[in-house]
Amino acid sequence: MAATDERADRLPVDHRSPRDRAASAVRSRPPITDDPAAPPLPEPRGPISAALHDILRDVPSPSTPPVDTADPYGDDLHLALHMCYELHYHGFESVHPDLEWDPGVLRLRADMEDRFLTALLDDVSGGRDLDGELNALTTAPAEAQGVGGFLDSQGHWWHVREYFVHRSIYHHKEADPYVWAIPRLRGQAKASLVAVEFDEFGAGRGDRVHARLFADLLEGADLSSDYLHYLAVVPAPMLALVNMMSLFGLHSRWRGALVGHFATVEITSPPAARRMADILRRLDADPACIRFYTEHVEADAVHEQVMRHEVIGDLLRQEPDQAASIVFGIQATALLENRIDQHLLDSWRADRTSLRDNELIKPD
Ligand SMILES: [Fe+2]
Ligand SMILES: [Fe+2]
Repeated sequence: MAATDERADRLPVDHRSPRDRAASAVRSRPPITDDPAAPPLPEPRGPISAALHDILRDVPSPSTPPVDTADPYGDDLHLALHMCYELHYHGFESVHPDLEWDPGVLRLRADMEDRFLTALLDDVSGGRDLDGELNALTTAPAEAQGVGGFLDSQGHWWHVREYFVHRSIYHHKEADPYVWAIPRLRGQAKASLVAVEFDEFGAGRGDRVHARLFADLLEGADLSSDYLHYLAVVPAPMLALVNMMSLFGLHSRWRGALVGHFATVEITSPPAARRMADILRRLDADPACIRFYTEHVEADAVHEQVMRHEVIGDLLRQEPDQAASIVFGIQATALLENRIDQHLLDSWRADRTSLRDNELIKPD
């Protein structure tokens, strides 16, 4: 007690007012700078993304956006949701980083998440038959009707480049959303998920981070490798898939769905990657394009086993009630991947671009 009093006696007395002390504290903080990867804010696609655009640029917004009547899979809602989530990754140029935790942004995000999740839950069959779902993924034949089949049988280089542009929205942050599962898992499930993530992040080598390998692929295809360079031209279906990952990652209650989604990616990847590598060889693509897929043929053959038996298996031993959530993650992934496929095939069969504007990706 006496020692504390003596120490207090030695401390200099600060005679400044609380307001002056606060102002001084603000001045002494490091300056706020943009994350160098931060892309520009994309142009709005409707009233919700316009309202959010105003909030992020600190412009007074005249109205409350109509989230409850928005198309739950539409461009306006998914661009706005993507903008909200991006604040948790690299943010946007000239957007204050504190908006990541702004109550108004979070309230709008929650309304959009509710609209999106309600639609997903309504549009999948649900249930708890996890073995049935996983077996179906493992034994699914390489469909002749899907995008892989189209590219295989009649794909031209411009189709492939458009496909890369869509996929860039995810691969620029490949495996990042799954990191949010780590603090929500325990024991073997945690250890095994981290082991898969270690590979996704290059096993200690920056030049082998899978997002970097995809950036190399983009450069090999004469496309920009800048982070989210193509956000403005990618339509809702791909944004919805990436938004679902962020949504599952940012809410601990959806940890099972996040694991189910991640397992789906790993289980379905090897045959799809093998086919893409063959397509790219046939088109005489740059080796960097082929390398991205050959890397995934090998790595994901291991990852699918780890995800299925060690991550899902152990999570279910600890939390049997997560089965329905994991099934939901698998089914919602299939639903949104099918919507992407449908959009690409509808566009290409009509011999038109699948992008909102393909000026950015010329020349072919
Ligand atoms: Fe990967
Ligand atoms: Fe993987």
